Amino acid sequence: MKLWGGRFNKETAKILEEFNGSINFDKRMYEEDIMGSIAHSKMLAKQDIIEKEEQLKIEDGLLQVLKEIKSGKFIFDLKDEDIHMAIEKRLIEIVGEVGGKLHTARSRNDQVALDIRMYLKKESKVIEELLVELLEGLVEIAKKNKDVIMPGYTHMQRAQPILFSHHMMAYYEMFKRDLERLNDSYKRLNVMPLGAGALAGTTYNIDRHFVAKELEFPEVTKNSLDTVSDRDFIIELNFIISMISMHMSRLAEEVIMWSTSEFSFINLDDAYSTGSSIMPQKKNPDIAELIRGKTGRIFGNLMGILTVMKGLPMAYNKDTQEDKEGIFDSIDTIKISLIIFKEMLVTMKINKKNMVKGIENGFINATDVADYLAKKKLPFREAHRIVGELVVYCEVNKKRLSELTLKEFKGFNELFEDDINEKISIENCVNERKSYGGTSVESVKVQIDQANIFLNNK
Ligand code: ARG
Repeated sequence: MKLWGGRFNKETAKILEEFNGSINFDKRMYEEDIMGSIAHSKMLAKQDIIEKEEQLKIEDGLLQVLKEIKSGKFIFDLKDEDIHMAIEKRLIEIVGEVGGKLHTARSRNDQVALDIRMYLKKESKVIEELLVELLEGLVEIAKKNKDVIMPGYTHMQRAQPILFSHHMMAYYEMFKRDLERLNDSYKRLNVMPLGAGALAGTTYNIDRHFVAKELEFPEVTKNSLDTVSDRDFIIELNFIISMISMHMSRLAEEVIMWSTSEFSFINLDDAYSTGSSIMPQKKNPDIAELIRGKTGRIFGNLMGILTVMKGLPMAYNKDTQEDKEGIFDSIDTIKISLIIFKEMLVTMKINKKNMVKGIENGFINATDVADYLAKKKLPFREAHRIVGELVVYCEVNKKRLSELTLKEFKGFNELFEDDINEKISIENCVNERKSYGGTSVESVKVQIDQANIFLNNK
């Protein structure tokens, strides 16, 4: 007999059980469900809604259920529909009739809202820690390769020389924003929903703030209808995970590119790459590819929950049971991705020589030649035109800008002096970009110092 079986004359169809049930996936919230129920029972006793002895029996019973689940003895049965009813049914089996008092002044609608908020609070903190570890990894790589120069690209064309450490710190900034987003969304997650009842509140004299305190929530939700139907916090977390995933995918793409023989900027560690079953020479960047690929699943989960919610009238609708599998999958996926991604990055070998090799082909210092003239008061636009002509001249004569003689330079403009070659050396191009947030060793050091201060306070 179902816990809600009173008004029914017939057993539910087998296929309905399978379709309707959520226990196969919501069982992972068992601990939150039990802790929530204990707090609720304490509140009922404090408010004289149940007797103190009854509360003690209920609490003991619930702790016994917890033990059974943890030790693997508990039988999860689809007939019980969801984790909430499975635990309540087992409680009644253990403590008898008194267990039936637990669900006073509560509905599964506010109960499930509580469980999922508690579960996501816990997981959000785990993701936060993993993000901090990734940030530390990026700073470590930046520090180790402080002055390694690489070509910087726009439109995937060589643009200006940059420091590899600057490149790593760009990702640091992205993931740091993700961390801030997690922190911010936590405030909205951290609101206690129990006491909304099925939708309209309850006639019992409950104390929601007491439950909030017991369960370490700083505040309670303000509108019972919103409370049982709100899944914004799931969407928000799914979005943040999507953003993290998108950021990882971008770096993964670069790692894949850098590890090709064409680039050869990096070598992945053997422990974090795989071989081919047919081509013995191959070392594949599978981790980076999977990180890039899993982004699809994670974005899908975000679209899924947004779509589930878009047409829902007030208040609770069973549709929202579809909120769980997606976010659980996103959480599982992002956690393992963050761990393995960081390991892959910190163990990769940087091929310093290949990064600078041929960097001067492609006129990567052309902007600096134009800046040279502009600093001598020529309008930048005019300087830009002259250097354009210089580039054409170099192409025709198969020369690099740095290989031109002063006479050749002067043929284009009288302002060129004999310091031109030094001024447009690759090192100079990098280290003269001292603007705040720029790529010089000096500017990147400022970024790394600030990152250290931030991470030391974590
Ligand atoms: N398993 C349900 C869910 O995940 C719990 C709430 C069900 N409430 C109800 N009245 N059917 O949403």
